[in-house]
Amino acid sequence: MDKVRFGVVGIKGVGRNHITAAKEGAACELVAIAEIDEEAAKKAAEEHGVRYFLDYHEMLKMDEVDAVALATPHPLHKEMAIAAMQAGKDVLVEKPMSVTVSEADEMVEASRETKRKLGVVFQHRTFGRNQTIKKLIPELGEIYRTVSVSSGMRAMSYYKSAPWRGTWKDEGGGVLINQAPHQLDIFQWQVGMPRRVLAWTRTLRHDITVEDLASALLEYENGAVGYLHTNVIDAPGRSLLEVCGNRGFLISDNFGLRVARPQPTLDEYIQAATGKFGRPEAKWEEVEFEQSRGRHTAVFEDFARALIEGKEPPVSAEEGRKSVELMNAIILSSKREKVVELPVDREEYDGLLAELREQEAK
Ligand SMILES: NC(=O)c1ccc[n+]([C@@H]2O[C@H](COP(=O)([O-])OP(=O)(O)OC[C@H]3O[C@@H](n4cnc5c(N)ncnc54)[C@H](O)[C@@H]3O)[C@@H](O)[C@H]2O)c1
Repeated sequence: MDKVRFGVVGIKGVGRNHITAAKEGAACELVAIAEIDEEAAKKAAEEHGVRYFLDYHEMLKMDEVDAVALATPHPLHKEMAIAAMQAGKDVLVEKPMSVTVSEADEMVEASRETKRKLGVVFQHRTFGRNQTIKKLIPELGEIYRTVSVSSGMRAMSYYKSAPWRGTWKDEGGGVLINQAPHQLDIFQWQVGMPRRVLAWTRTLRHDITVEDLASALLEYENGAVGYLHTNVIDAPGRSLLEVCGNRGFLISDNFGLRVARPQPTLDEYIQAATGKFGRPEAKWEEVEFEQSRGRHTAVFEDFARALIEGKEPPVSAEEGRKSVELMNAIILSSKREKVVELPVDREEYDGLLAELREQEAK
């Protein structure tokens, strides 16, 4: 196989980027689309010279489709990904890979059983800045403190643009499930998963039933602590990653990427200093980072290359599951007003979500 032939499901939103990526990506080819909106499906099929289907199951019967790219609302991801893998297709699914971590477990299991590859679209991992940070983190030594903040306004018009948005029933959460997955994924990819979470979610500025803001305190395996915040309220939006280790500090925000490397190291200074209020030498240095590769196109290219070379997808299903785990933990902690240990108790979270959906329906 020298090209992976893609069928894209769901084309009116981010699915448009999937079509472009499947056409532009090296080692990728677009061969079919599936979309329930017939007018949109027909138009796109004509434009791109490919077959279209209203029922994605029909597309799965095509021998010419090697891999299926899912750009449908997240509550559909599990069922569609499993059906595609059972039909012998590899799958590239949009973030978040699922609404609940128990669904993600089923998807991981289906991938094992069918021996099909399941990858998750997290294009932020391909960004030059994030690639540079990934290389810098080990230089910071033992991490003792982290901060991740991300925000960007969504008006009510956004929530009204599709009926599934901003509901427990059809979306399964608010900012955490829709806007924050990239932030959660990058944060855990850079500094690892916490072992415990204490969180607050709120609906402060929107007429929606799900959260428009979330804050969480994190505790890591080595005792380090962290703070995570996300919202769809702030304008201008804020983006901040702060990582503090015993050998260095890193700050990445809207204004750039900086590191400071204290000389001597913190531990050495704390033990050896004789003055009462001194500090080690430490200056902030700007760090240059490479230009990003093309977003979805880079993800499709890397996924296709992995399939051709028989390797795991760059973001495997197990990796994709981690941000869902974190998101579920934050919601569980907030709603039950308690510290939540990871891994999340799947049954408990599923019970909570059923309860939230029931309350919303009243
Ligand atoms: N990677 C990113 O940066 C990014 C950006 C936006 C959205 N997303 C993710 O992509 C997914 C879709 O989000 P969106 O904003 O594009 O949603 P959307 O509602 O704009 O588009 C969803 C599309 O799926 C179609 N669809 C729904 N049910 C279908 C079915 N049964 N069969 C075939 N097609 C069906 C809809 O008609 C629509 O065209 C979500 O999981 C979202 O989180 C990712």
